[in-house]
Amino acid sequence: MRSDANIAGPMTDPVPGPRPADSESMAAPVPPPGGEVVSRETSPPPMPRPEQTRVMVVANQKGGVGKTTTTVNLAASLALHGNRVLVIDLDPQGNASTALGIDHHADVPSIYDVLVDNRKLSDVVQPVVDVEGLFCAPATIDLAGAEIELVSLVARESRLDRAIKAYQQPLDYILIDCPPSLGLLTVNALVAGAEVLIPIQCEYYALEGLGQLLRNVELVRGHLNPELHVSTILLTMYDGRTRLASQVAEEVRTHFGKEVLRTSIPRSVRISEAPSYGQTVLTYDPGSSGALSYLEAAREIALRGVGVHYDGSRAHTVGRQQQQDQHSMSEGLQ
Ligand SMILES: Nc1ncnc2c1ncn2[C@@H]1O[C@H](COP(=O)(O)OP(=O)(O)O)[C@@H](O)[C@H]1O
Ligand SMILES: [Mg+2]
Repeated sequence: MRSDANIAGPMTDPVPGPRPADSESMAAPVPPPGGEVVSRETSPPPMPRPEQTRVMVVANQKGGVGKTTTTVNLAASLALHGNRVLVIDLDPQGNASTALGIDHHADVPSIYDVLVDNRKLSDVVQPVVDVEGLFCAPATIDLAGAEIELVSLVARESRLDRAIKAYQQPLDYILIDCPPSLGLLTVNALVAGAEVLIPIQCEYYALEGLGQLLRNVELVRGHLNPELHVSTILLTMYDGRTRLASQVAEEVRTHFGKEVLRTSIPRSVRISEAPSYGQTVLTYDPGSSGALSYLEAAREIALRGVGVHYDGSRAHTVGRQQQQDQHSMSEGLQ
């Protein structure tokens, strides 16, 4: 999909090269007390761009676990570090579109038109004003009817996949924000992507219902998309002061192991305020703990994509074990 040949539409500017020093400095580790200079060894590695477009499906059928927040903030983090990123808003609520400051009133061409009326993705994609290299295919309220309208259409599970494959743009990442259900919209996302990213809120019942999601992933892998696997689990709204949060985090790490990012996202007022300004936390308050943690999570995702595990202090190469572990994931979950 990524090609550097003739590009038309809203993405005509050249693929950005390395970012200037000021945006990189957002990711710099917080200096230790006493203000010692952070040595080169301890500064974080860059965010390498993937060789091919990574399509990541952000899914969890529970509402309010941080899917949308994670989608837009990871997307902005990656774009601010030289990646070209498309967010596909697949939730009729249109929260991702709102958070990216994208117009999505009823008359705007949207992902509904792509799924139901065979419109081209390039007709609906809009650039995100604040962040170079970031784009969004918005959702409008029409999408609420799509679950039902799709049922009677041909290739109803693979319409998004077809649209993405026909979209000849040089993208590094496509992040798909799913609705809080496992219906045809989420199935379309699972058929279109190779990677599933599951945000898990550090609350009681965090793992409840995940078994069903993982079984759906297995079903789609078995029948429609052999590449599909859960590549990434992100702990969200982590409150380090509570024992519950650390217990949930431990349980998730025990169950999923390597897929869980080392970085977890803290509960942060800045993160929850940003969408009401049509912004991600990366532009709303770049120095906040919420922005820095999403940036760090994005770095981990980027490094894992090139086979490097980064644990915050050192990087090491990983093998292919992750994909082999997938079958056992849903065991023991409801
Ligand atoms: N790390 C966080 N700290 C504080 N509030 C958060 C955080 N992550 C998400 N929220 C808030 O929690 C609510 C649900 O998040 P959202 O991303 O919309 O979940 P989902 O898309 O899974 O329904 C939103 O109001 C959002 O602003
Ligand atoms: Mg959402």
